[in-house]
Amino acid sequence: MGRLDGKVAVVTGGSSGIGEASARLFHAEGASLVIADIRDDRGEALARELGPRASYVHCDVSTEADVKAAVDHALARFGGLDVMFNNAGIAGAVGGVEEVTVEAFDRTLAVNLRGVFLGVKHAAPTMKRRGRGSIINTASVAGIRAGYGNHVYSAAKAAVIQFTRSVAMELGEHGVRVNCVLPGFIPTPMIGLARGLSAEEAEEKLRVVEEAFTGAQPIRGPGAPVDVARAALWLASDDSAFVNGHALVVDGGASGGRMWSTYQEAVVGLEERLRERTL
Ligand SMILES: NC(=O)c1ccc[n+]([C@@H]2O[C@H](COP(=O)([O-])OP(=O)(O)OC[C@H]3O[C@@H](n4cnc5c(N)ncnc54)[C@H](O)[C@@H]3O)[C@@H](O)[C@H]2O)c1
Repeated sequence: MGRLDGKVAVVTGGSSGIGEASARLFHAEGASLVIADIRDDRGEALARELGPRASYVHCDVSTEADVKAAVDHALARFGGLDVMFNNAGIAGAVGGVEEVTVEAFDRTLAVNLRGVFLGVKHAAPTMKRRGRGSIINTASVAGIRAGYGNHVYSAAKAAVIQFTRSVAMELGEHGVRVNCVLPGFIPTPMIGLARGLSAEEAEEKLRVVEEAFTGAQPIRGPGAPVDVARAALWLASDDSAFVNGHALVVDGGASGGRMWSTYQEAVVGLEERLRERTL
């Protein structure tokens, strides 16, 4: 028996990375699935591969009509909506604060924050009517720790966390749970895309990102999109029925603090220097 048997899920950003891994996992666990993305070629191919219980819609999450249409598509095609995974995101504005243009600032917020708001807004009515549902938003450890992402991205993700908590207080009273996942260092095309690579190049160079992320957290990595997908599956399923307004960190401990080995190196170095002075 699957953990999402009989449920209908929409996954935004489902064509790639964490969204794709989640789409595959939700589907394998029995969900009927709408993949909503702007990468039509990959999203359509994934829906074809998964079969009749999956469907793809073109959906720019920063555009209200597109998000509403994706939810309407789930209702028309599969007869309901149980899980809304607002996962689409971009690294957006990169560089030091003086380099950030107003256009890049606005686009970063439009996808990462407005996109989440629109997903929640349009999933809410049908879920409230049925008195149940699980909404999951993708934030980031960059939303709770400085130095884990670019400035505007980090601000947007912090806003997603607090938006999640705030809305959970409203929708929870209607039986609808709202939670978020906070991935750490996960090798996906987003990392290369942020550095100016094309989508194809970003996928080809994933190995480079994996190597870079291997030692970035106490649990030896690299983490994988499916690690975040498993956390999202738990929040989507009835296993988390009493969890609402939660920010679930999935980062192998990256945001916990300084690694023990790094601390030890620093301390040993200091002890050696202290001994030198006393001799
Ligand atoms: N990879 C990481 O290390 C990491 C860490 C923390 C948080 N995240 C978050 O995870 C989420 C998924 O990112 P990923 O790492 O899987 O990257 P990814 O680039 O592999 O996937 C992102 C997906 O979102 C889609 N997308 C982008 N803009 C969109 C829009 N306007 N409308 C609809 N779809 C759009 C892309 O086409 C792509 O399919 C994002 O919200 C990201 O911020 C990623």
